Amino acid sequence: MEKNFKRTLVTCALPYANGPVHIGHLAGVYVPADIYVRYLRLRGEDVLYVCGSDEHGVPITIKAKQQNCTPQDIVDKYHRIIKDSFTGLGINFDIYGRTSSDVHDRNASQFFRKLYDEGKFVTRESEQYYDPEAKTFLADRYIVGTCPKCGAEGAYGDQCEKCGSTLSPEELINPKSKLSGAEPVKKKTSHWYLPLDQYEKWLGEWILDGHKEWRSNVYGQVKSWLDGGLQPRAVSRDLDWGVPVPVEGAEGKVLYVWFDAPIGYVSNTQELLPQSWEKWWKSEDTKLVHFIGKDNIVFHCIVFPSMLKAYGDGYILPENVPANEFLNLEGDKISTSRNWAVWAHEYLQDFPGKQDVMRYVLTANAPETKDNDFSWKDFQTRNNSELVAIFGNFVNRAVVLTHKYFEGKVPACGELQDVDRETLAQIPELKASMERNLDNYHFREALKDAMAIARLGNKYISDTEPWKVAKTDMARTATILNVSLQICADLAIAFEPFTPFAAEKLRKMLGVCICAGIDHRKGEQETVNTYKQGEGCALHTVSSAEVPADARTSCPGADGCTCLSWDLLGTDNILPEGHQLAQAELLFAKIEDDAIDAQLARLDAIRAEREAAAKAEAAKQVAPQKEECSFEEFEKMDIRTATVLEAVKVPKTDKLLKLTIDTGIDKRTIVSGIAEYYAPEDMLGKQICILANLKPRTIRGIESHGMILMARQGDGKMRFITPQEVLANGAQIG
Ligand code: 2FM
Ligand code: ZN
Repeated sequence: MEKNFKRTLVTCALPYANGPVHIGHLAGVYVPADIYVRYLRLRGEDVLYVCGSDEHGVPITIKAKQQNCTPQDIVDKYHRIIKDSFTGLGINFDIYGRTSSDVHDRNASQFFRKLYDEGKFVTRESEQYYDPEAKTFLADRYIVGTCPKCGAEGAYGDQCEKCGSTLSPEELINPKSKLSGAEPVKKKTSHWYLPLDQYEKWLGEWILDGHKEWRSNVYGQVKSWLDGGLQPRAVSRDLDWGVPVPVEGAEGKVLYVWFDAPIGYVSNTQELLPQSWEKWWKSEDTKLVHFIGKDNIVFHCIVFPSMLKAYGDGYILPENVPANEFLNLEGDKISTSRNWAVWAHEYLQDFPGKQDVMRYVLTANAPETKDNDFSWKDFQTRNNSELVAIFGNFVNRAVVLTHKYFEGKVPACGELQDVDRETLAQIPELKASMERNLDNYHFREALKDAMAIARLGNKYISDTEPWKVAKTDMARTATILNVSLQICADLAIAFEPFTPFAAEKLRKMLGVCICAGIDHRKGEQETVNTYKQGEGCALHTVSSAEVPADARTSCPGADGCTCLSWDLLGTDNILPEGHQLAQAELLFAKIEDDAIDAQLARLDAIRAEREAAAKAEAAKQVAPQKEECSFEEFEKMDIRTATVLEAVKVPKTDKLLKLTIDTGIDKRTIVSGIAEYYAPEDMLGKQICILANLKPRTIRGIESHGMILMARQGDGKMRFITPQEVLANGAQIG
């Protein structure tokens, strides 16, 4: 039995404030969460939508060192960029807080302290790497060395970014501290651990037995963690950036970032609602949903719930954790360090007014069940052939024709014909399917349903051809346009979760507003679809005549203002006859090739740079020395200078040249595999070095007498060896 909740608390993974957010973050977490929240609000449900920046952790301190500034400077910069990107994309959290805030500092400290006082932690001593020069312990990321797997320099103590191997600092060859360059030494340190093993049974009952409906990727990961057996997990670190461990004798220790970050959800709620936050976190009537990416599953399904369980005090657990897989970009893994990403803030600059297009494409390709790919060509096609050609085109035709024939007023609906009835009958079915999909976090499928309504409208207006009917039958034209406009109103509801900017434009065109639901953004002063003087819905502003100063009124356009809500989707006569429309505006504009080409060129340049760097790196790789040889063995080799007299390609081969050379002793033929590197004309007249006494070999039917000496670089590139100045042919080398 589905439980009936009174309210829903939606959290989104707190992004690290050490870089901007990219489309992978958006597709994985923030766009689906926003769709869900908008949908629930349209249904009139009470939703609190919480996020914020995750401002602790080692990568932030490393970035600060690299940029010669403080960690606070780094988080201030990225907190602002990330927050603005979300707002720009229409992702309007009730609060976007930060874990460097005082509220969080107090809250996370208090959380730790209670668990500490109640003996919920175990302490353990371990040996950790320590920098004897900088006099500080080193997180794995602070130790660099040669990768034992691929030989790359600069591999981190936890991972080699070159080959992707997971490493431990012990495995690095020639490890060095990133801080001082000193060789790290092992030193004893003690930390607090949450004994996750004690929560194993309880976690199994709660998730494996109780939440079989969770996405298979989430359920599967939890199962494999539990099957493998849980170990105590350290909740503190030796570091000087973070929430200090609030215990005597813990100087130089802070809470581990993954201990404090999820508490950030609670802190941010407290910051927004200091009086009433507990009803969101400690009431069985609250449905808690965590939106995250797949790399966060263990923390949200195992670690954080165990922390809350240990804490007690009535904290609720998530009802669902719809984690997404990863999004790739043009067939390659998105990577911040390689700049292989589409950054949200750059997108907003490059494509002003096209927030919805990105939201739409990321939803249509959402990596819900498996990793998925974003490509700019697909982005363009989805915009031009779906949003513009179907959704936008239909709405435009309906509104423009209403202005043309009926002065922009919703015309009367006469007797319905089969085509009208059959068309309209499909909308409640699509709505039911959308609900099933949205309620179960299948946003891709829900978007298909919404798009099916647009396709239906577009087909209806194409099939019924009101522009032709208008020549003979105005009553029928009125009915067709009435039906079309009702479908437009359906679309304004159905697309509000997915493309809120277009939905708003459409509402303006249709002269309707939307039920705003409960607005928690003002903190305890929440408002329920009510407005003060000067405020209002998209269409109406409350004037001083309508309400006294400081008082509030319901929808200011109450008479004649149609407030759309989810319930109205698929119902008859959303727009009453005679209702005045505003002028038609294009909902979406075509995206031309040059905009896409510019994005592809940027990515090509990054790819080319990366390949060049990889080549340069490979070129530096030197083959190991061969086995020893004796002087006598070396002396046997007759190496001499010679000049190329003729060079031709050996027919039907790609790699072979047939060279006639003057060795000073004779003129002879050598067949050499250098056609990959030199054209015949490049070799003509060149002085080279040869091994003259190599036993003749027959290659492709040609007898070859000797070998051209070539130098081969690590990347495979080969060059012949030529004396520094031209010498007599036959000069002996040795
Ligand atoms: O993976 C991340 O980006 C983390 N900063 C997510 C933290 S989620 C939460 F627990 F705060
Ligand atoms: Zn490696």
